[in-house]
Amino acid sequence: MPFESNLKQIAIRRPDDWHLHLRDGDILKGVVGHTSRVFGRAVIMPNLMPPITSVDAAIQYRERIIAAVPAADSFTPLMTAYLTDDFSPNELERGYKEGVFFAAKLYPANSTTNASEGVTDLNAIDSLLETMESIRMPLLIHGEVVDPSVDIFDREAVFIDRHLIPLLKKFPDLRVVLEHITTEHAVQFVESSSANIAATITPHHLHINRNAMFLGGLRSDFYCLPVAKRERHRLALRRAAISGEPCFFLGTDSAPHLRSSKESSCGCAGIFNAPFALESYAEAFDQEGMLDRLQAFASEFGALFYGLPFNKSSITLVRDSHIVPNILEVSGQNQSVERLVPFHAGDSLRWRVFYHENN
Ligand code: NCD
Ligand code: ZN
Repeated sequence: MPFESNLKQIAIRRPDDWHLHLRDGDILKGVVGHTSRVFGRAVIMPNLMPPITSVDAAIQYRERIIAAVPAADSFTPLMTAYLTDDFSPNELERGYKEGVFFAAKLYPANSTTNASEGVTDLNAIDSLLETMESIRMPLLIHGEVVDPSVDIFDREAVFIDRHLIPLLKKFPDLRVVLEHITTEHAVQFVESSSANIAATITPHHLHINRNAMFLGGLRSDFYCLPVAKRERHRLALRRAAISGEPCFFLGTDSAPHLRSSKESSCGCAGIFNAPFALESYAEAFDQEGMLDRLQAFASEFGALFYGLPFNKSSITLVRDSHIVPNILEVSGQNQSVERLVPFHAGDSLRWRVFYHENN
């Protein structure tokens, strides 16, 4: 039986979010504070419309993010390039060397939200991957095939076997993060790979399995990509997160979509977990009796993989049960009020991020 601790509070090094969607414009202003309140740095996904495909676009987006961060928070957005079939290796290298692109994101074309301009043929971007391998630039992968003949629940495992393994044979020194893993197969693949390969794990994949999407009706709030899988996969992800293995680290994949876009006949994929992300991870680690491993997973292993220093300040998690609101409101265009549903809406969570202090 999982053991649950009786600790009243824990202080951990300030964490980072190694996979985050912030969007742009009014929504950006409404969501960024939920992350910057807690996390010191975040890797910002480039799947805007249009996507971030140039150094200039990344610089401008970074400025808009920084301008939207509440004044009291210190927060560093780490920008990514959105790879396309015709992305120029020179532009990629320049962006990396100038410290604008922290990494590049590979979306197989049409694999997820705003991925229509992604890569259509992995074999066609060899020169980009060669450049990245030689300059040690990390490649962040949305690891799902888009082949409609492959069952949606198998798309991650098939991607690993069909594409990722051959790709790593071709580019053995490439640094790769397999993002938001959802299967036992991915866990086993990453833990048996070299130290160049790591994976992020989201809070929602630690809490829900695929049944959540169908609980009493069609529940779009639990629909994201890659979709949640069977219970045994959720348990494998929990084992990976608490394993103390440095190849697994925190990446929320918080992906806000307005409630109106989720609740439609073709609802968007993405779960907005930023408002209670660390609380959500803490809940899972606590349920496993492994709170003492939270700091390494949330605040150290990602920085180690990316070769960055640890954050110096700390945050405190206080045991204080609270109910997550059903709706969060942000202001939209022309002063309109937009609604977002946070992950864990209506649930009781037992940890609360109380404050962070600069030491
Ligand atoms: C993300 C989004 O909405 O941008 N959606 C999601 O379901 N996770 C894109 C992604 O990371 O797949
Ligand atoms: Zn994502």
